[in-house]
Amino acid sequence: MTINIEEIEIRELQDTDIEAVSAIEAASFSMPWSPNDFRDLLSRNYCYYLVAIVDGEVAGCAGLTDICNEGNIDNVVVAEKFRGQGIATALLKELISRGESRGINAFTLEVRVSNEAAIHVYENLGFVSEGIRPRFYEKPIEDAMIMWRR
Ligand SMILES: CC(C)(COP(=O)(O)OP(=O)(O)OC[C@H]1O[C@@H](n2cnc3c(N)ncnc32)[C@H](O)[C@@H]1OP(=O)(O)O)[C@@H](O)C(=O)NCCC(=O)NCCS
Repeated sequence: MTINIEEIEIRELQDTDIEAVSAIEAASFSMPWSPNDFRDLLSRNYCYYLVAIVDGEVAGCAGLTDICNEGNIDNVVVAEKFRGQGIATALLKELISRGESRGINAFTLEVRVSNEAAIHVYENLGFVSEGIRPRFYEKPIEDAMIMWRR
């Protein structure tokens, strides 16, 4: 599905998006978050989640947890049919910009060492690898690359 990047709306995750976000998670990860995991997040004021909407449809999401002015990014995911069109990049730019206005000046995330597409997106945004956490992931077991943008 080809879209124009200007057609993407980025806004905060709402309760009504949770079923759609969970379905994208389930299709993309071997250990996806459940709808209840996302509902929990909405009640925490140190967690900040954004969704990308294309034509009224949830296309992806990305989240930030504010830990003492360090931003931990997780759940970066885009539905398969919308990938490769700049949606993850747009979500992350907005997440970083909103994080910076909340006083966060360093952002970190973990990624499977084999996840070339995600690593490419993160490097384009200024993230660099600062270490490897061995066997961090399950299903399948794999090392995590720890990336930071300071
Ligand atoms: C990783 C993911 C979020 C990227 O979303 P996206 O909307 O397709 O990302 P973007 O369109 O913003 O950028 C994709 C970039 O990766 C590049 N890319 C795509 N596949 C690639 C690959 N196999 N190897 C290297 N680069 C790749 C694209 O060329 C593009 O780079 P460019 O902007 O320099 O042209 C998406 O693939 C996804 O949801 N994957 C499954 C879930 C996941 O792994 N999430 C990350 C967990 S840490």
